[in-house]
Amino acid sequence: MRKKYLILAIVVIVGGILYLPVSAVMAADVPDTIKMESKVYPKHTRSIVVFPHKKHAVDKKIACTECHHVFEDGKNVWKEGDEVKKCDSCHSEAKKPSGVKVSKEENLKRFHYTAIHANCRGCHSDLKKKNEATGPTTCNDCHKK
Ligand code: HEC
Ligand code: HEC
Ligand code: HEC
Ligand code: HEC
Repeated sequence: MRKKYLILAIVVIVGGILYLPVSAVMAADVPDTIKMESKVYPKHTRSIVVFPHKKHAVDKKIACTECHHVFEDGKNVWKEGDEVKKCDSCHSEAKKPSGVKVSKEENLKRFHYTAIHANCRGCHSDLKKKNEATGPTTCNDCHKK
């Protein structure tokens, strides 16, 4: 009996060692879900949105370039395999303060709030208009209470 447990223990330990690095690499490539909790916001006034990355990128097969980009001369040159930076590394300001006037392009480029809602809610709303399967379009459906 003892020998059985010893073998089992070895299998579990070795399996654990082999399994860990593999799962870490895969999670880094395309995580299943991502907690959207950008540090550009001094404080979150809405609940944190959990973004089902795998559901979009793998299950629904939405092109990576719908969401990931690096613009050069107005063209998206990002391709699969390239480094993925967080949205807020470029869209680095929180929310456009009311009263500040900027063009639509600058608003999208500077403010995380504008860029993220244009991307997430923008696509969901477009699909809804076309009566296709879509994600949440109202505040509380995305920022769950
Ligand atoms: C499709 C999902 C989605 C919908 C719909 C949506 N949001 Fe968001 N919202 C997000 C995500 C993702 C972020 C980024 C959060 C982060 O990275 O910290 C965000 C950020 C925010 C923030 C800044 C962070 C905070 O907690 O203060 C506010 C405020 C906000 N949303 C309000 C709203 C309001 C108001 C509506 C409805 C008019 C709305 N959102 C609809 C996904 C959504
Ligand atoms: C519907 C939008 C969307 C699609 C499609 C999408 N991604 Fe993402 N991806 C995101 C968002 C949002 C993040 C989180 C960015 C942040 O935290 O600022 C992210 C993060 C990542 C990360 C970084 C994860 C980490 O832990 O930092 C990688 C790698 C990645 N995506 C790869 C891909 C690849 C490869 C594809 C295509 C097969 C893809 N994504 C498709 C929206 C998307
Ligand atoms: C390397 C810098 C960089 C990163 C990282 C980045 N963006 Fe952008 N993004 C830009 C620039 C620059 C523009 C303006 C493009 C132009 O001038 O046409 C832009 C434009 C946009 C637009 C409006 C144009 C369009 O494609 O619809 C949205 C929406 C957007 N970004 C969302 C996101 C989201 C969501 C993420 C994270 C998943 C992200 N961005 C990551 C630099 C970046
Ligand atoms: C290019 C289009 C597109 C973009 C961009 C996009 N989504 Fe979606 N989203 C979808 C579709 C399509 C579905 C419906 C999947 C289905 O068939 O259930 C969905 C579903 C969802 C769901 C519901 C998942 C479920 O299990 O019911 C959430 C939450 C969500 N999206 C959040 C986000 C957030 C947050 C972002 C931005 C970071 C985002 N989406 C960007 C197309 C998009």
